[in-house]
Amino acid sequence: MVKNIKVIGLNGSPNRNGNTATLIKWVLDGCHEAGAEVEMLNVSDYDIKYCLGCNSCLREGACIITDDYQAVYNKIIEADGIVVGSPVYADAPTAILKTLMDRMTLLNLYAATFQKKFSIGVATSGLAPTKGVAKGIAEMFGQRCGAIGATTATLENGPQPLEQNHRPDLPARANKLGKRFVNRISANKPVFSLKSLWINILRKYLLSKMVTRFPKFFGGAININPGLYGESEPIGTYWERLIRFLDSLASPPP
Ligand SMILES: Cc1cc2nc3c(=O)[nH]c(=O)nc-3n(C[C@H](O)[C@H](O)[C@H](O)COP(=O)(O)O)c2cc1C
Repeated sequence: MVKNIKVIGLNGSPNRNGNTATLIKWVLDGCHEAGAEVEMLNVSDYDIKYCLGCNSCLREGACIITDDYQAVYNKIIEADGIVVGSPVYADAPTAILKTLMDRMTLLNLYAATFQKKFSIGVATSGLAPTKGVAKGIAEMFGQRCGAIGATTATLENGPQPLEQNHRPDLPARANKLGKRFVNRISANKPVFSLKSLWINILRKYLLSKMVTRFPKFFGGAININPGLYGESEPIGTYWERLIRFLDSLASPPP
């Protein structure tokens, strides 16, 4: 039994009870059965305006626009795990989810606000590119991300409810994924991805020079995560993390 693990579902579809919501719920059911507290949020319920591109978040440490964004952001910050989902629209996540992601981008990159979060990407589509979208959205919500994406396609049967889809194994697979997710969070085992390694190297060796040279511009981001732009981490630690990751593959969590 896991204690005090909170997982939220973020549904980026305009349909509250559509395919994406169904698949997220199946994953959340697995999380709940594994002992986590779960909550579903429909991003479309919230008034989230477009990013202004003003860079204020980097200076102030928070967005200056007054709308529902901060409420959703707080929910994400409070959660240990995020199951983020979107239907594929024009080969990409919906504008609903993308608008939220745009608002989070700079602080996420410069202050590593989701560094300790675990995420799963869920995408549904008529055809493709389901996996790419699932992975891409998961990567926004944590650097220990890209772990596991649950995807589906409705190719042969056209637009119809997921329950009538041609993959009857999907609910059980999504449920199992939810359980694995909670076990992973509970074990607090880092998830290795080449992208997270790359972003960390970027932060330590390239961005840090710029950030520390212009503290007025990046003051908000530095305040949120003061350790991030301190002493450079020796490159050796990345290799150590890689070795730990390979070790964890050899002994997966129960
Ligand atoms: C405006 C729109 C654009 C879409 N674009 C794509 C697409 O590019 N590729 C694809 O495979 N499916 C596409 N679809 C199909 C949806 O991704 C699919 O039906 C999805 O399961 C709907 O999820 P929902 O029930 O959560 O809204 C599109 C659907 C809509 C309404």
